Amino acid sequence: MSDKGLTLWFTGLSGSGKSTLAEYLTPRLRDLGNRVEVLDGDEVRENLSKGLGFSKEDRDTNIRRIGYVANMLARNGVVAITAAISPYRALRREVRSRAQAPFIEVFVHCPLDVVEERDTKGLYKKARAGIIKNFTGISDPYEPPESPEIVVHTGPESIEDSARKVLAYLESKGLVEAISKTA
Ligand SMILES: Nc1ncnc2c1ncn2[C@@H]1O[C@H](COP(=O)(O)OP(=O)(O)OP(=O)(O)O)[C@@H](O)[C@H]1O
Ligand SMILES: [Mg+2]
Repeated sequence: MSDKGLTLWFTGLSGSGKSTLAEYLTPRLRDLGNRVEVLDGDEVRENLSKGLGFSKEDRDTNIRRIGYVANMLARNGVVAITAAISPYRALRREVRSRAQAPFIEVFVHCPLDVVEERDTKGLYKKARAGIIKNFTGISDPYEPPESPEIVVHTGPESIEDSARKVLAYLESKGLVEAISKTA
């Protein structure tokens, strides 16, 4: 069992693939001997951040909470994966600055027209119609990372391709066991 904790911080537009990649990577990282926990934006908003909305202040509070818990897990040897939009650069910088274990930012990049076409939760349609206010990418800002450790392009890439990129980076930095070693 590996005790190298870290935070794998996914950031990107709604529908870009943060939850999908977090779920896809979890069993693979476990197979490599890691303890893994996922802090998914939707789930966090149902419990840890219940009652918070989507104002700048509430979004910031939500991200601080996720960062706080991820850090506690990571410093205790867990691979903490976060899957929340986390639209503001300053907040991502803040949680990174508090990290006591490696902090790996993954920019889940997907063009707006593609996520809007996917519209996995039907939210873009509602945002365009004005039914949902403050929707990231439509009526609220998304600030792309300037120097993320990893960028995946989920428009052209398959889920497997994107996940492979993340694993390859972690392996190259010695943060997880090489896949070939566990085979
Ligand atoms: N390379 C890829 N990586 C991840 N998802 C992909 C990729 N290519 C296509 N997809 C598809 O994109 C969609 C991503 O939806 P998902 O719910 O994971 O987004 P999200 O970033 O978690 O959004 P939200 O912020 O609303 O929770 C899924 O339908 C998934 O199958
Ligand atoms: Mg999600």
